[in-house]
Amino acid sequence: MSDPVSITSYVARVDREQRHGHPGRIVWLTGLSGAGKSTLAMALERRLFDAGRNVYVLDGDIVRGGLCSDLGFTPDDRVENIRRIGEVARIMADAGLLVIVAFISPFRADRDRVRAGMPLGRFTEVHVSTPLEVCEQRDTKGLYAKARAGELSDFTGISSPYEAPESPEVRLPTEQLSVDQCVNRIMAVLA
Ligand code: ADX
Repeated sequence: MSDPVSITSYVARVDREQRHGHPGRIVWLTGLSGAGKSTLAMALERRLFDAGRNVYVLDGDIVRGGLCSDLGFTPDDRVENIRRIGEVARIMADAGLLVIVAFISPFRADRDRVRAGMPLGRFTEVHVSTPLEVCEQRDTKGLYAKARAGELSDFTGISSPYEAPESPEVRLPTEQLSVDQCVNRIMAVLA
């Protein structure tokens, strides 16, 4: 077998960019459970799709049902979850797609590792910064109540840490902004 490192594609990055009409990139949404990541990811995907971009969402709740169904919520499992998603997103972006990622991704080092693996300017970090109190009040899935009752261990923000980004490209306090306003802010940065 030949050495895989020596294999070079005959399709250059610039060829793919011309075909797609835009460069591949990752838009990475991070934030607490219930912060609004999935809602924003779907709204952003629709807006970008309608603007002619080739775009796809990788969402924690979906990916954990398949590719990462063997993983739980211990710190080690979250590191592995983000490593896999980072790798998939990087490959998809390399293929020329605009990839929107919506995972809690609580650890700064994991997110920074994905950024470091991307060409400069092709990783946009969006902190969906809805405060814990608001997420807990929303409790759309009833998970915060379970975590408070001790029925759910390692719950982000309660019994497991969340490390907010220090200098994300975009910060979205969803308790103050509409979905449209949030999408506008991300679109402005992508433009
Ligand atoms: S991550 O920390 O590894 O990035 P991920 O985004 O994939 O998490 O999954 C988070 C989703 O799993 C939450 O939105 C929630 O629905 C569900 N979940 C179940 N148990 C937990 C837990 N202990 N902590 C956080 N989220 C949990």
